Amino acid sequence: MKQITLGKSTLTASDIALGCMRMSSLTNKEAVKVLETAITGGINFFDHADIYGGGTSETVFAEAFKDLGVSRENIMLQSKCGITPTGFNFSKPHIISSVDGILKRLDTDYLDVLVLHRPDALMDPTEIAAAFDELEKQGKVRSFGVSNQNPLQIELLKSVVKQPLLVNQLQFGLKHTGMLDEGFNVNNLSPQAQPTAGLIEYSRLENMTIQAWSPLQYGYFEGVFIGHEDFPELNAALEVVAKKYETTAAAIAIAWILRHPAKMQVLLGSMNPTRISEMIEASDIQLTHEEWYLLYKAAGNVLP
Ligand SMILES: NC(=O)c1ccc[n+]([C@@H]2O[C@H](COP(=O)([O-])OP(=O)(O)OC[C@H]3O[C@@H](n4cnc5c(N)ncnc54)[C@H](OP(=O)(O)O)[C@@H]3O)[C@@H](O)[C@H]2O)c1
Repeated sequence: MKQITLGKSTLTASDIALGCMRMSSLTNKEAVKVLETAITGGINFFDHADIYGGGTSETVFAEAFKDLGVSRENIMLQSKCGITPTGFNFSKPHIISSVDGILKRLDTDYLDVLVLHRPDALMDPTEIAAAFDELEKQGKVRSFGVSNQNPLQIELLKSVVKQPLLVNQLQFGLKHTGMLDEGFNVNNLSPQAQPTAGLIEYSRLENMTIQAWSPLQYGYFEGVFIGHEDFPELNAALEVVAKKYETTAAAIAIAWILRHPAKMQVLLGSMNPTRISEMIEASDIQLTHEEWYLLYKAAGNVLP
């Protein structure tokens, strides 16, 4: 499994991580098997959020992790806060109390990374900075990041927050390529040119790791494009490339994300041990230039 450095830090993490959003429905036995498969396959980074399963994903994870007997220091735990039943909240009291809840549910003393989940229009960067300082000083959080933020929102935070923001978690995959489409269609009138404010280029310039969420979904959680009848051309192309590398279509879809020079980290969402092991193979696959473009176009994109 390839390792990447997260943003401007010394944290080295597997380029494929496990997203635990869908863990809440698993039995303890199933969760142990999922974690065992992931860790044996080389995954050392796990993404959570306080809202996943209403907090249950974190507790199911913690119990399974304890049963595995792996040392806490051998893995990295990331969780997110800021989404509430009424909207988004990045106030200091909310961030602090969210982290206390996360640590309790994950049964750990510290988070390796705390991520702000979705931008809060009412955010006051000085409050966020004060919350980060306190959490860092108390040893509860070692580093910080954001999710679903555009470059100017990040710059606003960076104008006050002193800790480096290591990651930006963004939806990205073969059926969610707005960040690329924009770059291909500069100054075009193409409907593909949805503005994403140069997120990929900004992340590369600022050395922030993009964590690609929902890598196999089309639309906004509408479903998985792998094997889906609405995407015959994409699936046929994935199968052809998969045959060459003796792997699965899903692994090729993950390898396609990892092929981008921005050195993204992919958050796998599968809770199926067989699929997890198959997709882990993507870390060792280096698609050619031609294969990468073939897949981008097979996903329905037209180059200018
Ligand atoms: N920051 C944010 O706003 C945000 C938002 C959403 C998600 N996330 C993060 O991203 C992670 C991944 O998101 P996701 O779960 O939507 O990712 P995903 O990997 O795109 O989707 C996972 C879902 O697809 C199914 N699946 C996977 N491979 C399949 C295949 N070959 N054929 C059919 N179904 C397949 C899985 O079912 P099985 O379990 O049966 O394999 C699971 O239900 C989350 O866990 C979370 O950490 C972040």
